[in-house]
Amino acid sequence: MNKEAIFLLIHGGHIIDPSQGIDQIGDLLIAEGKIVQVGDTAIQSSSFSAMLRPNEIGAQHLDARGLVVCPGFIDLHCHLREPGFEDKETIATGTKAAAIGGFTTVCCMANTNPPLDTPAAVDWVKQKASRDGSVAVLPIGCVTKGRKGEELTDMAGLATSGVLAFSDDGDPVTNSRLMRRAMEYSRDLGLPIIDHCEDKTLSENGIINEGRISAKLGLKGIPAAAEEVIVARDLILAKQTRARLHISHASTKGSVELIRRAKEEGISVTAEVTPHHLTLTEERIMGKASNEPFDTNAKVNPPLRTEEDIRALIKGLKDGVIDAIATDHAPHTLADKICGLELAAFGISVFETAFGCLMGLVHEGKIGLTMLISKLTCEPAKVIGRNGELGTLKAGAPANITILDPDREWIVDSRNFASKGKNTPYDGYKFKGKVMATIANGRMVYIDDSLLSNTLSLEGRGRR
Ligand code: DOR
Repeated sequence: MNKEAIFLLIHGGHIIDPSQGIDQIGDLLIAEGKIVQVGDTAIQSSSFSAMLRPNEIGAQHLDARGLVVCPGFIDLHCHLREPGFEDKETIATGTKAAAIGGFTTVCCMANTNPPLDTPAAVDWVKQKASRDGSVAVLPIGCVTKGRKGEELTDMAGLATSGVLAFSDDGDPVTNSRLMRRAMEYSRDLGLPIIDHCEDKTLSENGIINEGRISAKLGLKGIPAAAEEVIVARDLILAKQTRARLHISHASTKGSVELIRRAKEEGISVTAEVTPHHLTLTEERIMGKASNEPFDTNAKVNPPLRTEEDIRALIKGLKDGVIDAIATDHAPHTLADKICGLELAAFGISVFETAFGCLMGLVHEGKIGLTMLISKLTCEPAKVIGRNGELGTLKAGAPANITILDPDREWIVDSRNFASKGKNTPYDGYKFKGKVMATIANGRMVYIDDSLLSNTLSLEGRGRR
């Protein structure tokens, strides 16, 4: 398959584009990096033939019959680790993994070294991403200098350099006065604040969820209140300042209820949940086999919670209280994870398992496929104010497209990850649902080997 196809006709797929309410079998036509037409099969095929000039190079046809064609996924929350932690991930490896996961746009967090707290640091990431990135990278800038929680960054300067939001993710902004000021500036700049909600005085030294398993294993727990106290504070400040607040990785029933009430009150808040908080409980820390007493790959912050929390998070997703699914892709080295639970780093490598894992919820009838796609496409686009341009198959939009096989079974093998982070609690899991191809800005950035035989290069009219 030519990666630089100028014209591409994706033929006969099940097109699902929640941004336009499209759910039909049809064709999708791409030319020069943009979506030209989406819809009925016959119209598309004839437009395609008409567009081809004799001896046109790079025109291609992809047979998508039996597959789902949807807008490219947008990830509001990932850690690409570059600069500073290239042993964990680089922009090249992280965005390659993102492409395999169906993501065409990823928003990268600022907990790098140096952190993204100056326009120069943001420019560096943008330039590196334009050279090395398989997919679009949108940087998030720090709220405070050095992520130390003491002094605000030059938020206006960061906004000018193109950050799409502000966050000290990995850490909360503990000082409420600073958070209030940050919200006032972010409101005036028209950008959201994304907060990692964690009261460290409540979570300190915690390893897993505070509850049945922490008591059984004698491990220090992280209570739900550690998250909810800061969610509540942020909502109060967002109400007062009229800023746009986005809650990172909501993980508890209480957070869902707080956000629900805030939305009912008209507070400008959005929220995300991760695939792991929707599918795994605190029990998972105990390891899959009896000879494996615990699994550091299930250590994540916020921690995996309970069945009751999962039910509330899924209900929140369906009711619109939770706007988007975001990966919190947090790659770590083997050394960061091959150690005791206390020492192990928090975080899960998520890009390459996100869709397969989430499809479990669809096959179990807990959420619909269209709803899942909306939470990965148009809804996150709205959170960052890029709807209409991203997360849509509208004619004229950049050609960001993901092709899925909802029924393809596969087994997770982290050794095959493109990500440097092999830290997944899903290793060996059998998933039903796979990303088959990803087109980012008109370029085929990933195609499953089995789909290669479905593609055909065309060189001019009459060769079809
Ligand atoms: O588990 C996590 N890992 N949670 C975070 O908030 C940060 C992340 C990381 O950077 O490793």
